[in-house]
Amino acid sequence: SKKLIIAIDGLSGVGKGTLAKALAKQLSLPYLDTGLLYRAVGRKMLNAGVAVESEAVIHIAEQLSQKDWSRDDLRTPEVDKAASQVAAQPKVRAALLDMQRHFATQQGVVMDGRDIGTVIFPSADIKLFVIASAKVRAERRWLQYTKDPNDPLKTKQIEKIAAELSERDEADASRAIAPLRPAEDAKIIDTDHLSADAVLAQALEIIHRY
Ligand code: C5P
Repeated sequence: SKKLIIAIDGLSGVGKGTLAKALAKQLSLPYLDTGLLYRAVGRKMLNAGVAVESEAVIHIAEQLSQKDWSRDDLRTPEVDKAASQVAAQPKVRAALLDMQRHFATQQGVVMDGRDIGTVIFPSADIKLFVIASAKVRAERRWLQYTKDPNDPLKTKQIEKIAAELSERDEADASRAIAPLRPAEDAKIIDTDHLSADAVLAQALEIIHRY
């Protein structure tokens, strides 16, 4: 039988990663967090000290491999910003396109990002677009930082987190290429007043109706 392709998009910190991971587990599908690809390119750009519009960055994207996006230093505020900057470069997105499509073979896939339902898999079986208010997203991120006693960001102010999130939202939604927006046939899930389990239940209901 044909395996499902499930596309999950939304802004930073809406909980789409949490949902995508839980769905993949529940449905025994492979999972790819596509933000990690852009983060890995951003990380390598910072390490190499090259400019965001440079040929070197395109080359980094073309050469990217699984070990690059499996490293554990991809979730820092510097990398958040670098990822969003490289993601606005058309040639970087082009270099990462086939990589993402090839990930969904006969096995199906759950993939989360910004343009999965609009660009990567316009004919995905299921498209979910996850939303949450800026306030709730900043609070969730802040809680993530504070619950880990070793996190150097533990004392980071919630106002600063909110400012960085909204800066990245603005950049991701207003860029010329693959701006964040729901596909016309996407189902919207508003997670503001829902627990992670409730979000999963809603998504499963949508999938079972399919
Ligand atoms: O999802 P995450 O916050 O890890 O993504 C990091 C950055 O990568 C985003 O701010 C966005 O600019 C970019 N991105 C993208 N398209 C995707 C996934 C992520 O442009 N499919």
